[in-house]
Amino acid sequence: MLDLGCGEGYCARNYVKRGAASVHGVDISSEMIKLARTASDDAKLSFQCASIDQFSAEKAAHASRYDLATAVFVSNYLDSEQVQTLVEVAHSSIKSGGEFVLLHPHPHLPYLRQTTDSGLRFDVNTESSYFDAIGSSHVGHILDLEGKTIEVRLVHHTLEELFSNFLKSGFVITEFRELRLEPSTAAAWPVLKDVSSSNPMHIMIAGRKK
Ligand SMILES: C[S@@+](CC[C@H](N)C(=O)[O-])C[C@H]1O[C@@H](n2cnc3c(N)ncnc32)[C@H](O)[C@@H]1O
Repeated sequence: MLDLGCGEGYCARNYVKRGAASVHGVDISSEMIKLARTASDDAKLSFQCASIDQFSAEKAAHASRYDLATAVFVSNYLDSEQVQTLVEVAHSSIKSGGEFVLLHPHPHLPYLRQTTDSGLRFDVNTESSYFDAIGSSHVGHILDLEGKTIEVRLVHHTLEELFSNFLKSGFVITEFRELRLEPSTAAAWPVLKDVSSSNPMHIMIAGRKK
């Protein structure tokens, strides 16, 4: 498996726990890669410090190498050109018949009605609209489980843009889901009830290489 934007390796370690024969993680942050390497010495895991653009520049070296690729909450840090590169490099790195799964915050999140006590709020410029804000970086704040405020960033990409990234790269879209928090997580995180009980928080797009 290939995990693009792997961070400190949380997903990669879980993929191995769930049976992956090997996982290669790629992330731009040397800090994250260092944490990933120290968190586990499992020989099934390997990590590389590279940006998506750098990894893509070497795409001939890893063409058709993986059965499955994932990108979990990294596209929300990338501009439109970089998201297209991410989807293209996932496509070129997997074998024919392989799948790519992308997780992204739901693009409607910054446009939800927000009350002052919302546990997740975005400071969206009132002139900005869903359709014209592609590529804008929305800054938001989320209250974590300990009540600490954390800044989050969401580079805005519409559903139409993300779907077209998949189709342009040659994927057949096999599954699309709008995800909400697990009931047990939602119960433990009541300040997020605005976004967790009645609205999706994340999206998942899965595509298969023909
Ligand atoms: C929110 S974290 C997600 C980490 C991991 N996928 C997870 O779900 O635990 C986003 C990660 O994307 C990485 N990232 C941001 N821009 C990147 C880029 N241009 N190329 C590669 N990684 C990038 C960051 O360093 C960070 O580790």
